[in-house]
Amino acid sequence: MKKTVRDIELKGKKAIVRCDFNVPMKEGVITDDNRITAALPTIEYMLEQGAAVILMSHLGRPKGKPNKEFSLEPVAKKLEELTGKPVIFAASDVVVDDDVRAKAAALKPGEIMLLENLRFRAEEEKNDEQFSKDLASLADVYVNDAFGTAHRAHASTAGIASYLPAVSGFLIEKELKFLGEAVDDPKRPFVAILGGSKVSDKIAVIENLLNKADTIIIGGGMAYTFLRANGFKTGNSLCEEDRLDLARELQAKAKEKGVKLLLPVDSKCGDKFAEDCETCFTEDENVPDGWMGMDIGPKTIEIYTNAIKDAKTVIWNGPSGVFEFAAFEDGTKAVAEALAANEEAITVVGGGDSAAAIKKFGLTDKITHVSTGGGASLEYLEGKILPGVAALNDK
Ligand code: 3PG
Repeated sequence: MKKTVRDIELKGKKAIVRCDFNVPMKEGVITDDNRITAALPTIEYMLEQGAAVILMSHLGRPKGKPNKEFSLEPVAKKLEELTGKPVIFAASDVVVDDDVRAKAAALKPGEIMLLENLRFRAEEEKNDEQFSKDLASLADVYVNDAFGTAHRAHASTAGIASYLPAVSGFLIEKELKFLGEAVDDPKRPFVAILGGSKVSDKIAVIENLLNKADTIIIGGGMAYTFLRANGFKTGNSLCEEDRLDLARELQAKAKEKGVKLLLPVDSKCGDKFAEDCETCFTEDENVPDGWMGMDIGPKTIEIYTNAIKDAKTVIWNGPSGVFEFAAFEDGTKAVAEALAANEEAITVVGGGDSAAAIKKFGLTDKITHVSTGGGASLEYLEGKILPGVAALNDK
């Protein structure tokens, strides 16, 4: 177990807090502030305890150079709005300089400041020792609450923890609780729904979950690699020819372990990858020549939603079809609704596309936990150690 903000004295301390404020933006306007609101419980608790709070984050991938487009200034404004307090924005292209040091030194208990985008410095992603020390020198304690970036070993997520007492915030604590309990101590039946375009992206997750789940449901583009491996026609559907043996091996392993691995028995297809394409339903697993499977069909929806209905734990990572196109959203929507309707089960949605789908269908409130981490939740489901968590002090 890792120490949290509850385990340390914060009164009169300066705390540097790594958040994941990597939020989507359009023309300088934040289009989804979920990751900012998710960090508020930790920030507010620290202020109440009498700490001065220095926040830091990355935004996008500015490749180690300052770039106005990726400035965290809009996040500082949003934080002011959400906390109702002034937020001092330390607008330095090099993130830490004498002016920023002076601002940090002058920060009083109950005050908040935000550093500029950490990735304006190449040293951040290199987990550079000196940059880690420079960040650490601003504060007395380090708090990591950036679950979405916990799979990165960077200066602000890993390196800095060597130079200060290092604890987690409430968001990381909550993410680990829900993902951890679902994966490692699930109420059964435990159903995992995996989707997305490539089997190759999900191999490690499938392998890990084969040791834990009772049923694994496969949807999305990756299903067609499995179907081709089983001898069906897949037309123009996404198919990784070089993963056919792997798809067979994974199915053999599932059989050996007594895990049900469900594949689509029908599909909704398009004649091209476009919103306005012609569509058709298949009779069975086969996709005719000239067509591309872009969603699960009605028979599959029934089988998948029945499996979800009886589950006591459900983890969902990856949509079942191209839900961004209205014509191909039914499968993903049905899966999302089945999760929302199963009030008996612990339902956990891994971030990224599935979280976007749950949001699109207005069901976020009906899910036990929607992770703020895309890559991080995927790596957690793969059974990997997250460097941003590993670096924190043990209880
Ligand atoms: C994310 O959005 O998944 C995190 O903020 C990590 O971003 P990265 O993939 O650019 O490291």
